[in-house]
Amino acid sequence: MNKVIIAIDGQASTGKSTQAKKIADNLSINYRDSGAYYRAITLYLLNTNINYDFKISQEILDQISISQEYKKGNFRIFLNDDDVTNKVRGHMVSLSVSNYAKKPEIRKFVFDQLRKSAESKSLVVDGRDIGTVVFPEANFKFFLTGKPRIRAERRHKQIDDDSVKVDIIEQEINIRDKTDSTREIAPLRKADDAFKIDVSDLTIDEVFNKILQKIKSD
Ligand code: DC
Repeated sequence: MNKVIIAIDGQASTGKSTQAKKIADNLSINYRDSGAYYRAITLYLLNTNINYDFKISQEILDQISISQEYKKGNFRIFLNDDDVTNKVRGHMVSLSVSNYAKKPEIRKFVFDQLRKSAESKSLVVDGRDIGTVVFPEANFKFFLTGKPRIRAERRHKQIDDDSVKVDIIEQEINIRDKTDSTREIAPLRKADDAFKIDVSDLTIDEVFNKILQKIKSD
């Protein structure tokens, strides 16, 4: 197979990373989680007490080294050689990451890392602006959407905590959709040439089959 770049963008809780990993397994190609880069940088900056209100200098960015690894269902992310796979999902990082992810110098850092990863190898990447900004030349672009209520119900199942109400998750999802799509830097938007899939009434395997069919038919 020639080198391919596959971009999976879309709304929160539509299963982007699940699909991206399945593609990586099926086609035996590399996978990168773009959100995890933003999370790892956020973790570093929180740990070093660098607030998002300040410009993050090149000197600081030069101290950050991030690598990702994906093998058969097992994703790991390393920050300066420490395995931070679980830490990047922590509460503080989740609360702060969108503030850091808005910063142009941080976006450029992630952009450079992703482009470097794709220099010589095929890659599937999930995120918000992969098909529009990072890899506008990607061979295949997918954009996943879903009804807020259904995404909230799916997330509720994952959280597995009855004290968290579906209505509240749905409200959070609506707010997140709005902030993601109206923000000034890298807003969430479907690339004109992306294949849109509404995942609301589809199982994981049904979405995956649509994606695979599209890739194989070209
Ligand atoms: O997908 P996630 O929740 O791990 O993403 C973490 C944060 O990074 C979230 O605030 C959205 C942001 N993000 C982004 O701005 N651009 C991307 N390509 C991926 C994630």
